[in-house]
Amino acid sequence: CGIVGYIGGQQAAPLLLEGLTRLEHRGYDSAGLAVLGSSGIKVAKQAGRVRDLGDGLPKRFGGKIGIGHTRWATHGPANDVNAHPHTDEAGRVAVVHNGIIDNAAALRAELSGAGVELASDTDTEVLAHLIARSGAKTLEARTAEALSRVEGTYGIAVTHADFPDRIVVARNGSPLIIGVGDHEMHVASDLAAVVRYTTTVAHLDDGEMATVTAGGFKTWRIDASGLSATDRRAKEVDIDPEAYDAGDHESFMHKEMLEQPARAEAVLRGRLDDKFGTGHLGGLNLDARELRAIKRVKILGCGSAYYVGQMGASLIEELARIPADAEAASEFRYRNPIVEPDTLYVAVSQSGETIDTLLAVQEIQRKGGFVIGLVNVVGSAIAREVDGGIYLHAGPEVAVASTKALTNMYLAFAMLAVQLGRVRDLSIADGRRLIAGLNAIPGQIDQVLAAEPELAVVAKSLAEAESLFFIGRVRGFPVAREGAQKFKEISYRHAEAYQTSELKHGPLALISTAVPTVAIVPDDELVERNVAALHEIAARGGPLTVVTHAGVDLGDLAGKVERIDVPKNERELDPILLTIPLQVLAYHAALSLGHDIDKPRNLAKSVTVE
Ligand code: G6P
Repeated sequence: CGIVGYIGGQQAAPLLLEGLTRLEHRGYDSAGLAVLGSSGIKVAKQAGRVRDLGDGLPKRFGGKIGIGHTRWATHGPANDVNAHPHTDEAGRVAVVHNGIIDNAAALRAELSGAGVELASDTDTEVLAHLIARSGAKTLEARTAEALSRVEGTYGIAVTHADFPDRIVVARNGSPLIIGVGDHEMHVASDLAAVVRYTTTVAHLDDGEMATVTAGGFKTWRIDASGLSATDRRAKEVDIDPEAYDAGDHESFMHKEMLEQPARAEAVLRGRLDDKFGTGHLGGLNLDARELRAIKRVKILGCGSAYYVGQMGASLIEELARIPADAEAASEFRYRNPIVEPDTLYVAVSQSGETIDTLLAVQEIQRKGGFVIGLVNVVGSAIAREVDGGIYLHAGPEVAVASTKALTNMYLAFAMLAVQLGRVRDLSIADGRRLIAGLNAIPGQIDQVLAAEPELAVVAKSLAEAESLFFIGRVRGFPVAREGAQKFKEISYRHAEAYQTSELKHGPLALISTAVPTVAIVPDDELVERNVAALHEIAARGGPLTVVTHAGVDLGDLAGKVERIDVPKNERELDPILLTIPLQVLAYHAALSLGHDIDKPRNLAKSVTVE
């Protein structure tokens, strides 16, 4: 979900609508805004997109203070009443909220018992009523009192008709930033909504509240005894506002795919040591002795970050010969995991906000484990909580389907694996070979992307199938998983990833002329086994698209299958290059089906609730 707010000398409604559009990738089930003008608070909210809020709205909504929200539904379906902002019965308090209130049911029952008529099914609405019913004098004290009743996570913004000179915001687990303009202030849950107006921003900490007026802001810490002033200052952020624009591209995903060569260079820059064939990852906060003491590596992430974690685990096992595996962070915490002191835990997250991953980090730390982060968003919750890490330098990623962040996650894993290997058994010659391989990757990604027109043709025919397989084995299996994930996310076709070797033990029953397979067949030690499996599919009439290397001989299948050759790197590093055409295939499949590529149905860029 996304939050915006404005207070200053301009009309708030157009600015709020603009900010909401920029945050829409974070949730797009419903949207709404509240503007405080001379006649009190006016609210417009409904299921659907920001654009559905209506063209005429700014004219009807005069006022220079307002808050807005774009939602990814958790409590209650995505309908008009459940959209934010939520108000009290008199319509004098309006609240927008990201996060989740765990004790909402109890608070709703208590409010109903006290005669309050609840208008929605949401957890957020209780905040509006609690603030309205508080007897405290200031809006800050009322909000703090309401928040003291709430268990869970929140980033909130509040306006109140009785306090028409301010917006009160607070944060606990869900980001909130304040952008300082010239006699005007912005609030938002994400820099994307603010950078067009100002790059002077303050990030609130968990447990902090702020009073935002047109002239400035004051921060407070919420504690048991009430509010105590803190002295948070705004700082300049080094960000190019253009990074948040799709420019000439028809979508952010397209722009972000094409940015990969440059962003890959950025994550590698200054971190490769050609002479000793190793990586320089100062942010790990681990010296050679500590790196050597690591006995196991456990990687945690969600969605694409989990699949790239599997690629990372296989790199680490192969290069450093340390047992390594990846697990969905969303599952880890719930099975009372064994946390070992000599295990290196790695949390992988583009946003640094995914609550499942964040909670896994906290569980590890609670049990005394050492955890590093592979995170893109600087200063995000996970980046702040981990004991060390590698920033991904992918730049802002807006499309829900991750491309450049994922590629940089892989490259960060590769550097980590080489560094772990070089303090163990990996030879200097192998180290140098891999560093040279890494240096070649940005240019090779560029070569794959240059084949976009041909890949688009293949994608169009794949998009016609209702159901597809993506297969690979060993290093290629996570590639297939990520490829299937991307395909289903944006094309809404059923795409199932399977180990090539396991296909014959069950799913081969599903192969037919109507079910195409995308097979990952790198030129490595398994190539013959992989080609044999292709024959098993072809013999059942299954159409094949083979993602492979120029040297691979497909025998009598040549000419009967779609063949996509990617440039060859060192075999350990091939997976990332094999992933790139799968992005392009998913993208063009979705495009040919006419889908909203950046905002696939039911999903959101960052899931900040469990
Ligand atoms: C959401 C997105 C996925 C993403 C996952 C992890 O589910 O829809 O595309 O891979 O979150 O996000 P993170 O920010 O932690 O990498």
